[in-house]
Amino acid sequence: MDCFLLQGGRRLKGEIRVSGAKNAILPIMAASLLTRGECIIWDAPDIKDVATMAQILTSLGAKVWVGVDARTGLRYVRILADSLRSHEVSPKLMGEMRSSIVLMGALLGRLGKFRVYRPGGCPIGLRPINFHINGLARLGVRLSVKHGFIHGEAPRLVGQEIHLDFPSVTTTENLMMAAAYAEGTTVIRNAAREPEVVDLGNFLNSLGARVTGAGLDTIRVTGVRELGGTEHTVIPDRIEAGTYLVAAAVTGGELTVTNVIPEHLEAVTAKLREAGVPLEVGRGHIRVLPGTRLRPVDFKTLPYPGFPTDMQPQVMAMMCFAKGTSLITENIFESRFGHAEALVRMGASVEIVNKMAVVRGEGSLTGAWVKATDLRAGAGLVVAGLGAEGMTVIEDVAHIDRGYERMDEKLSSVGADIKRVRM
Ligand code: EPU
Repeated sequence: MDCFLLQGGRRLKGEIRVSGAKNAILPIMAASLLTRGECIIWDAPDIKDVATMAQILTSLGAKVWVGVDARTGLRYVRILADSLRSHEVSPKLMGEMRSSIVLMGALLGRLGKFRVYRPGGCPIGLRPINFHINGLARLGVRLSVKHGFIHGEAPRLVGQEIHLDFPSVTTTENLMMAAAYAEGTTVIRNAAREPEVVDLGNFLNSLGARVTGAGLDTIRVTGVRELGGTEHTVIPDRIEAGTYLVAAAVTGGELTVTNVIPEHLEAVTAKLREAGVPLEVGRGHIRVLPGTRLRPVDFKTLPYPGFPTDMQPQVMAMMCFAKGTSLITENIFESRFGHAEALVRMGASVEIVNKMAVVRGEGSLTGAWVKATDLRAGAGLVVAGLGAEGMTVIEDVAHIDRGYERMDEKLSSVGADIKRVRM
């Protein structure tokens, strides 16, 4: 098991380049199955989930190459799904990554059928799939969910009006993919508006699909007969960017985060400013200026453009370094306070009342031996460890590696005392 050893209290100083977005590239890689043409996806992050998705695509018969462009240094994934041999994803591969759920829409679009295994319980919540099932059923897919397997088949997909009960990100993405070849127009109402949905829409359009409205609450997809190949650069990871901004703030550092689209981070930067973090926002970068004086803030997680649930653990960790009470309401996932126990072990005062965490910040934390229970909880603990007095050991950083490209190396390069050890 890999662990991080963190000596807190070092000011971060310098520049970190943000990688391509995990939650954008995973559905885009799945969407590459829709076409026989070659897809090159640039700025592919070097993270475990991308490797898992590549393995899944290969298991279905696609050819996948990963490389680095010698001139630009940019990493790419090249996918050629000219012939597929299977519509079934093994339970083992499905279990490695919950986001493999986006394969349903892609396989339906391409092959008219899929069989996937529903990944087990996840520490951030139950994560039901009823919206996916109901939406696909509206398009004419016959579905069965038995013994943990989800099987779907549609001799013909027909465009329909679909109203989502909640603007679910991967449901919106599944429906966009399934509708790409459907007869007529599919209208997705109350669609997710996340930038990753927009990136998928742009990718699909660059293949020749007809998607309009991505980024708005109504998305229309008019089916086409054929899709071709493309080259596409994935958007920068707004959550990785936000994580490093928060990390700099708790150390009183001065850090420039580059390769960002600042508009994607407006909810986060507004909250950081309110919390006393001085920021300079440029065209492709955000800088934490020296002079952070943290004060408590309240926030609620919401679908985009609200405050992202994927930044909640990191900002909760930051609030432990402010003096005073912060009220944090988690509206997206019912069990996304897994990091609170570890923060308490580090000296925080956190009380959980239903969807709300009451953080009574005392201005400091002390290093302790803690465990990353999921990806963003792990990121929150890294933030806590960077600001804490003394040594923090974070166990099980495989969770962090799923979604952050070499976080330890990026943080070391700006002055953090962080080491990866195998225990
Ligand atoms: N939901 C249902 N039924 C469904 C689908 C969702 O009740 O069929 C509920 C969920 O339980 C949750 C809410 O709807 O309460 C929203 O979930 P959503 O479907 O939007 O989440 P997701 O698509 O499964 C994506 C990201 C998550 C991110 C959420 C919210 C990907 C691959 N994953 O998940 O990313 O937290 O949107 O923004 O895009 C992460 O990166 O750490 C991560 C968990």
